[in-house]
Amino acid sequence: MRDRCARNITYLRLSVTDLCSLRCRYCMPEEGILKRDHGDICSVEELVEIAQAAVVCGVRKVRLTGGEPLVRRGILDICRGIAAIPEVEELCLTTNGLALPQLAAPLRAAGVSRLNISLDTLRPDRYAYITRVGRLEEAFRGLKAAAEAGFTGTKLNVVLMKGFNDDEIPDFLELSCRYPVEVRFIELMPIGEGRNAQFLPAEAVLESNPCLRPLEGSGVARRYRSPGGRGTVGLIEPMSHRFCAACDRIRVTADGKLKPCLHSNQEIPLRGLHGAALRQALQAGIAAKPERHHMNETGRSEAGRNMHQIGG
Ligand code: GTP
Ligand code: 5AD
Ligand code: SF4
Repeated sequence: MRDRCARNITYLRLSVTDLCSLRCRYCMPEEGILKRDHGDICSVEELVEIAQAAVVCGVRKVRLTGGEPLVRRGILDICRGIAAIPEVEELCLTTNGLALPQLAAPLRAAGVSRLNISLDTLRPDRYAYITRVGRLEEAFRGLKAAAEAGFTGTKLNVVLMKGFNDDEIPDFLELSCRYPVEVRFIELMPIGEGRNAQFLPAEAVLESNPCLRPLEGSGVARRYRSPGGRGTVGLIEPMSHRFCAACDRIRVTADGKLKPCLHSNQEIPLRGLHGAALRQALQAGIAAKPERHHMNETGRSEAGRNMHQIGG
């Protein structure tokens, strides 16, 4: 379905939990978050029903997010349920990777087509610092498990932070040369805890690496390749508004609120709606999608939620 700016909405980002096994400083409050009552978040059946209704509205790609989607009980049932919808051409998942040693193969068997894995640093001490509770070795084990389970087209999400990982840009580029993955440098968004870290424009990657050759873009990323590299490099620049005009996505939070735009506080409750009423609510949300977000380097997001409650 097209929105009022004639953008074709084909991509649903569905958050299945706001909980996470990590506490990344730019995403989660230090004290963590209160576990909600079971009934406060959508059940497996509700999530599948939302995906089914979204497909009727034109969605063809579904991405499961969190928090961390792999800590959600029933995640494999959710995947199986959504993968079984014939119109869903791609079922993707964004994860911190920690649970992949146990779950990579079952996820593939459950119909997940592609993974994006968050990894902001390649240094153990920094990983422990930025995630507050994580061990880099476990994240690496997750990456390996994804490859062994047969996942291809995996993307590594690196949130750029001045004074934290800017000196690792060459190491990440090297990784993109050595392995068939896309390393994506993401500009930090001033949303929730994201205001605590230092912004670095993604353009800095190009300035320090003029050898990067442009490729055709995809989704929210500008894409490049190092000469001779097996993998690719992506730049995601939300602060420049570069991709609002071509935005093709809607989001649903784990508590069943439709967010037409990541950075708007507009939310449309979906829980309790079924059949035609659910489809109409989705259509109303698509129709109400703002033309662009109004966030800048000094301003803050108007999302009204932390990132772990939206799923990026
Ligand atoms: P692909 O399907 O592989 O292209 O994934 P994706 O980039 O859509 O999803 P992913 O979950 O890996 O998101 C990567 C980063 O892009 C995260 O930091 C998201 O918050 C950010 N992002 C994704 N979509 C949007 C968007 O519509 N607006 C903004 N501002 N940021 C977005
Ligand atoms: N700015 C940019 N990206 C963020 N993510 C989480 N918080 C932020 C933020 N404030 C990223 C995660 C993950 C993706 C879903 O969103 O690192 O890769
Ligand atoms: Fe968890 Fe991702 Fe947030 Fe880190 S950025 S705390 S891995 S949801």
